[in-house]
Amino acid sequence: MKTLFACMIGIAFLITSVFPAIGQEKVDPKVLFEAKCGTCHKADRATSKKKAPKEWQATVTRMKDVRKAPINDEEAAVITNYLSENYGKEAKK
Ligand code: HEC
Repeated sequence: MKTLFACMIGIAFLITSVFPAIGQEKVDPKVLFEAKCGTCHKADRATSKKKAPKEWQATVTRMKDVRKAPINDEEAAVITNYLSENYGKEAKK
């Protein structure tokens, strides 16, 4: 019985130590953007535009709050950064 108990404690520790690591795994911003922003309209609805960081922030916030895009604040920040860096007004891409 004692061994079984010890095993269960061990497994519980294992699970709690492994899962937070999965949660913190770095998500590729491009993958996140395409997965979250390519559902209602194509992702190129965004990538065909160039906006300043503030404008991207406003757009992403609007998609999130008004259009109910399924993203949290953290994801909104990652997507805003990604769009600002790759589809910024100054970017010549
Ligand atoms: C729940 C559906 C939905 C999701 C998810 C969604 N959008 Fe939209 N989006 C819309 C609708 C509807 C419009 C057209 C009406 C409007 O502009 O608000 C739109 C329009 C746009 C436009 C063109 C208008 C503008 O302001 O330039 C951009 C850019 C855009 N979305 C970017 C995004 C980004 C980035 C994401 C991911 C964070 C996203 N969308 C996720 C529904 C969605």
